[in-house]
Amino acid sequence: MAISDSTINEIKYRNDIESVISPYVSLKRRGKNLVGLCPFHNEKTPSFTVYPENGSFYCFGCGVGGDVFTFVKLIENLDYIDAVKLLAERSGIAIEETEYDNSLSKLKERIYEMNRETAKFFHNYLMSENGKWALDYLTGRGLKIATIKHFGLGAAPDSWDSLIEHLKAKGYSLTDMLAANVVGKSQRGSYYDRFRKRVMFPIIDVRGRVIAFSGRAMPGDTSGGKYVNTADTPVYKKSDNLFGMNFAKNNCAERIILVEGNMDVVSLHQAGFQNAVAALGTSFTPAQAKLLSRYTKEIVLTLDADEAGRKAAEKAGDILKNTGLSVKVVTVPDGKDPDEFIKKHGASRFGAVLEGAVNETEYKLLTAVADIDITSDAGKIKYISRAAEIIAASENPIERDVYIGRMCEKYGVSRTVLTGRIDEIRKANAKKTAKKEIGEIIRPKFATNAPNPEKRLNPTAAAAEEGVIAVLFSHPDFFSEAYSKLKPEQMVTSLNSRIYGKMCEVLSEGKTLDISDFSEILADSQMSYLVSVINGDSARGNPLIVLKDCISVILTEKDRKKPSDIKNMDVEDWAKNLKKMIDKKRGKRNG
Ligand code: CTP
Ligand code: MN
Repeated sequence: MAISDSTINEIKYRNDIESVISPYVSLKRRGKNLVGLCPFHNEKTPSFTVYPENGSFYCFGCGVGGDVFTFVKLIENLDYIDAVKLLAERSGIAIEETEYDNSLSKLKERIYEMNRETAKFFHNYLMSENGKWALDYLTGRGLKIATIKHFGLGAAPDSWDSLIEHLKAKGYSLTDMLAANVVGKSQRGSYYDRFRKRVMFPIIDVRGRVIAFSGRAMPGDTSGGKYVNTADTPVYKKSDNLFGMNFAKNNCAERIILVEGNMDVVSLHQAGFQNAVAALGTSFTPAQAKLLSRYTKEIVLTLDADEAGRKAAEKAGDILKNTGLSVKVVTVPDGKDPDEFIKKHGASRFGAVLEGAVNETEYKLLTAVADIDITSDAGKIKYISRAAEIIAASENPIERDVYIGRMCEKYGVSRTVLTGRIDEIRKANAKKTAKKEIGEIIRPKFATNAPNPEKRLNPTAAAAEEGVIAVLFSHPDFFSEAYSKLKPEQMVTSLNSRIYGKMCEVLSEGKTLDISDFSEILADSQMSYLVSVINGDSARGNPLIVLKDCISVILTEKDRKKPSDIKNMDVEDWAKNLKKMIDKKRGKRNG
């Protein structure tokens, strides 16, 4: 894989890390660095740090880190080449076709094209004489032709190979069709159209690309399930996308309406609610919440009135709140879905239903009261206890006060008693959260060792190696000093040896060292490790002295440890060796 270094440097130069990250994370200056809430894990206090000086970022909470390319890769869910391409596009730099080869990137492009071709095929079929059955079905459900065109809806013929033949004629290979998951392959090895005799919903991402399809069976047709959906492909991850987001993103500054079905989205858009999206039949995921949080402030969850719908709503509500979105809940009357409701009562009545959306606390209080018989004293007590828990879960003191007042008035409880109970619950909850947070702080410490597993057996050497790497990153002028005493292969841990090797390669050519030189040769977790090393304390003190000390430690350790011996030991020897080390430590501690 080769995009030339000079192109990479040019892209990097035109995309400074602060301007790349700030659309996603609200950053505050702290000294020469910037900090904000990590977009890769949930946190309340900022531990996500951006280092403009060397173009890197690192999160002390979850241990993720890297350069601009790593960031874009992770946040946009791209592979390395596509992250580079995205940043190149953003800054108007052209990458020569010949500059990157590689199959995955090329395959993805072919799948996007093929999906577009497939969507056109389905749409043309729907609008043709042969597709009348499907068009009648859609118009029979109240969709206008303009809406059908707007969403690019289509239909798959009742055939095992129409699409295959069509795509073949357009020059696509069966292998690519299989990769796009528009065709399947039987056990006997024959290929067939995956979507047959269905109305087709193309799924389009926020950049306008057709990434997948969802096909609904005709009513009464029970062969093959109500929906057939594209499985995950190189361009599509079901759990990361939302149906309708390509349109909703332009109409959702205030709020987004989250519904269950594709048909609901189409109906709502037709009725003027162009901020509706659906979760593609998965249970709602954090990745989907993150996508939403990039475009809007508030989510209105519309749900089924049944138990399953309620549970789903509570789960989705928690996920959404963790992303910092405000959540409201609305139950569509008569147990209908939004599509049916609008057809029966019209758009303005649905608007009124939306106006009645309540916040989560109120929603939970309402559903709890529906579950409990409050005409008896026992029921009333049960309800008030449950209500105390619900109110305690709210983080907004004003909101808590309002609901406490309401409960007291309505059920004749004393304010002191209810407030006391709620305080108790909150204290207990706070303890639980603190425990969990401590767990979260401790875990990443292990995570940062994981990329360099040899560090556990060679802690002293590894620490010294980190010192060398850190010093050289900020003082590349000490390169000859370092290289004359220490060659890459003399480092004890192989990851550090590889990093130092790359550094030596770059510096010996007289080039400037840049964190991006490593994004191609290191895995994401190793990249995070490197960033934590170069921004950490290993190089504190007089750099030349630190460098010399570190090198001498490495050389002594190298002689002593002989990690190659360890590598060649069989498991039994290794276990014996480990036991010896542990015993020695114990002896020291006890003695
Ligand atoms: N779904 C699915 N597979 C199924 C059933 C449902 O993937 N076997 C997903 C689809 O994305 C669907 C959503 O779950 O849109 C909601 O399902 P449902 O309410 O049954 O479908 P609707 O889209 O409302 O379909 P319709 O109104 O045509 O019955
Ligand atoms: Mn429906």
